Amino acid sequence: MGADIDIGATAAGAPATLDLEELLATRLLVQGNSGSGKSHLLRRLLEQSAGRVQQIVIDPEGDYVSLAARYGHIVLDAAECAHELATIAARARQHRVSVVLNLEGLDVDGQLRAASVFLNALFECERDYWFPALVVVDEAQLFAPAAAADASDDARRASLAAMTNLMCRGRKRGLAGVIATQRLAKLAKNVAAEASNFLMGRTFLDIDMARAADLLGMERRQAEAFRDLQRGAFIGLGPAIARRPLRIAVGAVETADRGAAPRLMPLPEAAGPEDLQDLLFARMEEPAPPRRPRPPRADSAQTILERIDRGAPAPFVAAPAPELSDEEREAAIEAIIAQMAADAGAAFQPAATLHRDFLVRCRIRRLGPHAPDVAAFAERMTVERARRAYPDGVEADEWMRAIDVARRLPRDLLGVYLLIGRAALAGEPCPMDDEIARFFGSHSPGRARRALGQLEQIEAIVTRSDAPNRRVIALPDLDRETALARVEAET
Ligand SMILES: Nc1ncnc2c1ncn2[C@@H]1O[C@H](COP(=O)(O)OP(=O)(O)OP(=O)(O)O)[C@@H](O)[C@H]1O
Ligand SMILES: [Mg+2]
Repeated sequence: MGADIDIGATAAGAPATLDLEELLATRLLVQGNSGSGKSHLLRRLLEQSAGRVQQIVIDPEGDYVSLAARYGHIVLDAAECAHELATIAARARQHRVSVVLNLEGLDVDGQLRAASVFLNALFECERDYWFPALVVVDEAQLFAPAAAADASDDARRASLAAMTNLMCRGRKRGLAGVIATQRLAKLAKNVAAEASNFLMGRTFLDIDMARAADLLGMERRQAEAFRDLQRGAFIGLGPAIARRPLRIAVGAVETADRGAAPRLMPLPEAAGPEDLQDLLFARMEEPAPPRRPRPPRADSAQTILERIDRGAPAPFVAAPAPELSDEEREAAIEAIIAQMAADAGAAFQPAATLHRDFLVRCRIRRLGPHAPDVAAFAERMTVERARRAYPDGVEADEWMRAIDVARRLPRDLLGVYLLIGRAALAGEPCPMDDEIARFFGSHSPGRARRALGQLEQIEAIVTRSDAPNRRVIALPDLDRETALARVEAET
């Protein structure tokens, strides 16, 4: 059963299609001089098959990062994830997540090394995960050069071996190479020879034309036709395309190779809003080289691994986010927490519910990937709520110390300790049981008494006086105690 990808129109105006299943079995080589429309063609192919097959894009120039916006590919910034590339590749295979490996920002050696590590890991994944995947390599002559290139021997050999594996032995493992090159003569012969499908675009040099004619089994004279091809026009041949050379005008694409704003388009398999949000506010890249629009920047390797483990992400449309310094980001997160802690009802809501609200607020401020997890968030909310209970008259370093001490206590006692500690530092009397209970989000004074009992037991506090309304609690680690209750002070 075929599964056709619509790539454009034939010269006769009929739809030109690529048989996806056949393509997976027989691979594709695209050749054309600079500007002939190879990358556009690859993009069309990726777009038309997105959501139907896993896609791995080896992207030397960061041209394909925009696929993430529309189709939910995970963008991996090779410069940032150098040490995790193999792990990410393996997990991407396991979870069938489409990935764009953005190699931009690495020198040639770095690009070759990163590509080979990544490709090898795709190749070497466990047999259980040999799912079909298109592996698209643009500028393939970089990774599989016919002759010594700018790169060091080591890097070149590693990358050539990885590309050879991909093209020669990948099929059994589900990997279908789709490679594009400006110059056939610059691409290693054995790598080119493994493709059974060809799309030849405008070609000027005789040597490339001769190679193309050889590969396609055409007369050299026939191959002259490549010279006159317009941008976006290709001659296709192979089991997935046509039995005879077929002239194809590649159709339009949905995403831009950078810059232009992508439009939203629903995809068949949208993941949950959480993933979508995560992607939406993924960290964006710093100003790109001059005259190139800004590509989105990939997340940290850890974030990517976590996201891959959660399953395939949903598509998203990312607006460029401002790059914040760590301090600015921290201040923004702090401000959100302060705002949420100011809500008197906060104590009575489950941490998970509050955290969801918090994540939304973070995402609105483009802080999604940096948002603390639920445990860290809950702790910071508690700290902030304790601070707010006694807002004034506390030295910052003393408060930090109290937080430090509280963090070493059992988690469920942290809040009570901080509340009492804050009261002591502020020179205030000890809060009543019902106030403590409310701080917990409870209406039961008994719960407050139990917590105090536990703190007492582990010697974090010492109750000095427990007369009604005049409890005084000492906090040995802070070297402080709560003030005498006002009731008494006033009488
Ligand atoms: N079929 C097409 N329809 C409309 N525009 C196209 C088509 N093919 C290519 N273009 C446009 O032509 C320009 C060059 O195309 P593209 O970047 O795909 O070339 P390329 O062969 O990848 O070149 P290079 O080898 O330099 O990367 C781009 O701006 C692209 O949008
Ligand atoms: Mg290109």
